[in-house]
Amino acid sequence: MPPHTANPVYTPGIFESPDMGAAMAIILTPEPGTSTEERWRIETPYLAGEMAGRLDLNANSLVLDYGCGIGRLSKVLIEATGCFVIGVDMAQRMRELAPVYVASPRFMVVSPEGFDALIDRGIKVDFGFASWVLQHCLEVERDIERIHAALGPMARFFMVNNLLRAVPTDRGWVHDGKSVEALLAARFDALDRYPFPPGISAPELTANSALSWWRRK
Ligand SMILES: C[S@@+](CC[C@H](N)C(=O)[O-])C[C@H]1O[C@@H](n2cnc3c(N)ncnc32)[C@H](O)[C@@H]1O
Repeated sequence: MPPHTANPVYTPGIFESPDMGAAMAIILTPEPGTSTEERWRIETPYLAGEMAGRLDLNANSLVLDYGCGIGRLSKVLIEATGCFVIGVDMAQRMRELAPVYVASPRFMVVSPEGFDALIDRGIKVDFGFASWVLQHCLEVERDIERIHAALGPMARFFMVNNLLRAVPTDRGWVHDGKSVEALLAARFDALDRYPFPPGISAPELTANSALSWWRRK
């Protein structure tokens, strides 16, 4: 039997969802006071409105959706602004489901490794966002560097995140003590920060999460 003190083992396979329904449930987990369905219905247009309302996105814009899942936000952002979105996701199944869900020629999806190859060849996006992703990344410093490298000078970055880290492990979601906001602050200037989400009566979720805007240094 392994010793009780053994470190938790990282289990990113939790994001390899067998189908669209399972993917939706892991993307927006039910929380006390709210369900996956309610969060999807209320949160999705709200976040898209925040982004479309604060940025001048149009048919020439190239946007990064980091940890895109099935492309929940890519889809509404494309519909609202006509922009191109490049989704990046580590999970093969999410990368298979996303083009089906978004169903737009303006959407493309790649793995983090593939995105690194594009960055090496000079890709620059006009704006980037990560929704409910960076809390889950094991080596989040690497993900932040990747996002920083992909953004053009002074480009803005929008983050929706849990304040407590939730790294998937064989012992459940683990808070490893890292502050994503503190790590981001080394590479980005903080612009704005406000609580989440209006219209959803889930005090725990609201207390433990934040929306924040950043500008690439
Ligand atoms: C909770 S879901 C959020 C999906 C989407 N951003 C949304 O809000 O609808 C988290 C997603 O991040 C992806 N992910 C987790 N760690 C990642 C990493 N290091 N690099 C890229 N994607 C990652 C997962 O595969 C999953 O699809």
